[in-house]
Amino acid sequence: MTEDIKKGLLGIVVDETEVSKVMPEINSLTYRGYAAQDLCAKCKFEEVAYLILNGELPSEKQLKNFEKVERKERNLSKTLLESIKNFPKKSHPMDVARTAVSIMGLEDKETKDNSPEANLRKVMRIFAKTPVALAAFYRIRKGKKIIKPKNNLTFSENFFYMCFGKVPEKEIVKAFDVSLILYAEHSFNVSTFTARTITSSLSDIHGAITGAIASLKGPLHGGANEEVMHMMNKIKKPENALNWINNALDQKTVVMGFGHRVYKSGDSRVPTMREYFSKVAKVKKDKKFEKIYDIVEKVMIERKNIHPNVDYPTGPTYHLMGFDTDFFTPIFVISRITGWSAHILEQHAANKLIRPLASYKGNSYRKVVPINQR
Ligand code: SDX
Repeated sequence: MTEDIKKGLLGIVVDETEVSKVMPEINSLTYRGYAAQDLCAKCKFEEVAYLILNGELPSEKQLKNFEKVERKERNLSKTLLESIKNFPKKSHPMDVARTAVSIMGLEDKETKDNSPEANLRKVMRIFAKTPVALAAFYRIRKGKKIIKPKNNLTFSENFFYMCFGKVPEKEIVKAFDVSLILYAEHSFNVSTFTARTITSSLSDIHGAITGAIASLKGPLHGGANEEVMHMMNKIKKPENALNWINNALDQKTVVMGFGHRVYKSGDSRVPTMREYFSKVAKVKKDKKFEKIYDIVEKVMIERKNIHPNVDYPTGPTYHLMGFDTDFFTPIFVISRITGWSAHILEQHAANKLIRPLASYKGNSYRKVVPINQR
């Protein structure tokens, strides 16, 4: 009898969630019922992080308290800081993020406590410390002095400050904040499902987030924003774009930043991010990448009917902001920690061990031949 195999769990609904949904009736990704683009227009990232973690938008008082905790937790332990200083300079920052969260798990006094209260406290520590760890590595590998976090700066402002020593123009900070809002959560994507799978054995939150970071690193998932930039660098100038993309498609190349398992006629986050990409390009007085972007997108839609996903506009936007290409996916991490954590809490609240079946295609039964007779 042939078994019905759903490779890649394509189209399979494995659980329920209250965190987010792509709502076709408004053609938008929604977090706890709010459209992502509405949140981008009216909120800062911290409000959305609160919403994802707690289920409701915060009052002014609740936000103040949330920010107070996040800012208080920004400092790294001496051990973690010394470890980062000793990491090989050529390490990929995603591996740095993964290892840093793992070290945080060694140090956290509540690692074993999976109660919702303890998990929320641990989330705040991971959420606050991961950007600080990444920025420290950003500086160290360039031979620069580490910049300590500043408690009067927002989450986004502080990340720029710790990486570059200054906070950029407000349009740049807003565009970064918007990118974090758009990256924060996307239901049962690979990394979130990884986090939920790890959690389903009643393992701890540091382990689940460590696993999720490893999953996000891959170029078919979060790693695509870095690949988009590599592609744009290969194209070099707008005049080359048409030939490049046509050749790539003739050779059946997978074009990074395009396609999606869920969206088949366009990722609802793209128009918002495209708008902010344009704003950043204007501030930076550099339209080259926008021109390349538009040409590649047009050909992908005309020839393949494949639309861009959110990683397509974020790649060149982060480049224009001045970040090294291998920091693009770590930026995705510092935002998605919120979505992962909400799902980890949800998994704990109504847990069922995740354990699918496989259709066995190996050898039929056979006897072991002792080693001296093989
Ligand atoms: C993210 O799931 C999420 O929600 C993820 C995410 C989130 O917020 O968490 O949205 C973030 O991971 C975005 C996706 C980033 N990845 C990329 O940009 C990598 C490039 N894209 C793909 O390889 C692909 O589109 C996937 C992996 C994203 C989706 O893969 P599927 O659903 O398994 O579809 P598929 O690879 O089987 O493609 C179906 C067809 C194939 O053609 P046929 O064999 O049927 O002829 O579409 C073609 C593919 O070759 N195709 C592409 C393509 N994407 C799909 N062809 C060229 N370039 C592409 N990018």
